[in-house]
Amino acid sequence: TIQTLTDRFDRKHDYLRISVTDRCNLRCIYCMPEEGMEFEPAEHLLSYDEITSVVKVLAGMGVRKLRLTGGEPLVRKELDVLVAMLSQIPGIEDIALTTNGIYLASRAERLKQAGLTRVNISLDSLNSDRFKMITRGGDINKVLASIDACINVGLSPIKLNVVLMRGINDDEIADFLSLTMDRDINVRFIEYMPIGHHDSQWKSLYLPLKQVFDVCAENNWSFESISSLCSNGPSDNYKIAGAIGSFGLIHPISNHFCQTCNRLRLTADGYIKPCLAWSEQFQVRRVIGDDEAVRQLFLEALSTKPESHEMAKHLLEEQTTHMPTLRRMSQIG
Ligand code: GTP
Ligand code: 5AD
Ligand code: SF4
Repeated sequence: TIQTLTDRFDRKHDYLRISVTDRCNLRCIYCMPEEGMEFEPAEHLLSYDEITSVVKVLAGMGVRKLRLTGGEPLVRKELDVLVAMLSQIPGIEDIALTTNGIYLASRAERLKQAGLTRVNISLDSLNSDRFKMITRGGDINKVLASIDACINVGLSPIKLNVVLMRGINDDEIADFLSLTMDRDINVRFIEYMPIGHHDSQWKSLYLPLKQVFDVCAENNWSFESISSLCSNGPSDNYKIAGAIGSFGLIHPISNHFCQTCNRLRLTADGYIKPCLAWSEQFQVRRVIGDDEAVRQLFLEALSTKPESHEMAKHLLEEQTTHMPTLRRMSQIG
């Protein structure tokens, strides 16, 4: 019998997010503390052969889409070699990358040739000084060059990820929306999630996305809802009248999309995460090589997948049914 990746709530899982490293060349204010983090030693990371072996098992269980994440995935050497290995696995139809774009410009072409299909780039400000502040030292020109490089090699349409933060970049909504007018880019505004944060920062910086509609109204931009672009991702998508590109809203807090969740995660240190927000319990690293054991562990992990993430509840001191993860996004992917 074929065991498929369907959970207790009848959600089908065809999408795996693979973190290839917890390291990053930036330290964004909403993701890492000022002093940086302790990184996993290299020997704890799954090798490209180990990742490929897990994906082969999952492709046999219905996984069709992959996304490589980090930390910053391009910190890992020769990522195009992994992309080439994964793209040869029967059943895999889509291999995407989420990156901060700093190292992407010179590597876009090789990645595309290796079989990469799509790229999501994080860009939280269009102002170079502010970008430097948010990323603690990043050079925006490298990211802008990467966007151009992706368009040139045919890795488009690109999605730009913008985490909206109160008092930090909420005055740039109109500028980001303007980018969609003459370019085939999908700009996605993201609600700041309290993931691995146990301080007051989240409460003061969190901003619900209703603001984006207010900015459209102020500028007399009319927009219409469009069906989600390639993959039923977490964003609700819209197009401003006359625009070439589009914009999306990702609101895990104010209106979570858990009921249609189709994703599983594999962390860089070899844990299966059925839900982003829950603590890590299923270490697959120790059974890789035994395909049946890998299959069973994924099914067991999936059987614990919660109906929703309940993120923010513990911060509001409401009762939750699970142990929240202590990891930051860079350690999850
Ligand atoms: P595609 O839809 O395939 O393009 O990917 P994506 O949007 O899921 O991937 P990306 O890595 O660009 O993630 C963008 C944002 O989506 C992240 O900043 C998160 O806020 C949010 N996100 C991604 N996966 C999850 C998830 O499993 N749960 C929640 N709550 N949010 C997620
Ligand atoms: N809340 C929302 N998005 C986050 N990201 C990282 N940390 C958070 C957070 N706490 C985003 C990054 C990147 C994507 C993978 O996740 O900006 O675009
Ligand atoms: Fe690095 Fe992405 Fe975290 Fe920024 S959000 S520190 S780019 S992993």
